[in-house]
Amino acid sequence: MNKRFLKVAAFSVAIIAAYTLFSSLYVPPMKPEEPPSLEAVHAVGVEGLISLGEKVFKGKGACALCHNAAGRAPLLDNIMEAANTRIASIDYHGSAKTAEEYIRESLASPSAYVVPGYGMAGDELTSPMPDVTTGAIGLSAQEVDSVIAYLQRLSGVDVTVTGEAGGIDVSGAIEATTDSEGAR
Ligand code: HEC
Repeated sequence: MNKRFLKVAAFSVAIIAAYTLFSSLYVPPMKPEEPPSLEAVHAVGVEGLISLGEKVFKGKGACALCHNAAGRAPLLDNIMEAANTRIASIDYHGSAKTAEEYIRESLASPSAYVVPGYGMAGDELTSPMPDVTTGAIGLSAQEVDSVIAYLQRLSGVDVTVTGEAGGIDVSGAIEATTDSEGAR
């Protein structure tokens, strides 16, 4: 081996090393596409849930037949605030602790608490509203959630129900986040 060969060899090794270093430092590594954030998935789910709720309210649920300007039943456009007032009132005897629970209770057992002045003629303790989770109306758990989401949006508060909407079930992910916070 002569000196010239050694020089050429050393030079080649140096070039290769330089390229290796360059590529590892400057070529951005390929990243897999990020999955949509939970917030994004949740937003799609919530909007889907609200529009389903509006359909249920005006259609299958028959809510709008009674809850309208004619006064047969109380208007529900600010039910979240009204619900808090009902729960806090001295004559409230239902078992709801939150506005969301109050709406749930109103849907499944309307007579648990009857808004004063709206009871059956001659029987103020019985609501003219049917249990909408069974019988002729028979809303599913998801439809109940969707109506609550719709009413929460009408009242201008955050939607707290999860449900399964738009083909995306976000409830598991949300429960997982709640669990990891160590609640209950
Ligand atoms: C047959 C008429 C009728 C139908 C249908 C009906 N409601 Fe009612 N609803 C009433 C009446 C009357 C009251 C007031 C008496 C009471 O407190 O139960 C009421 C009360 C309520 C309350 C409590 C209101 C308050 O101010 O405290 C909520 C919430 C409610 N209804 C939601 C619904 C939803 C959602 C639907 C559809 C899924 C529905 N209702 C269908 C007649 C009806």
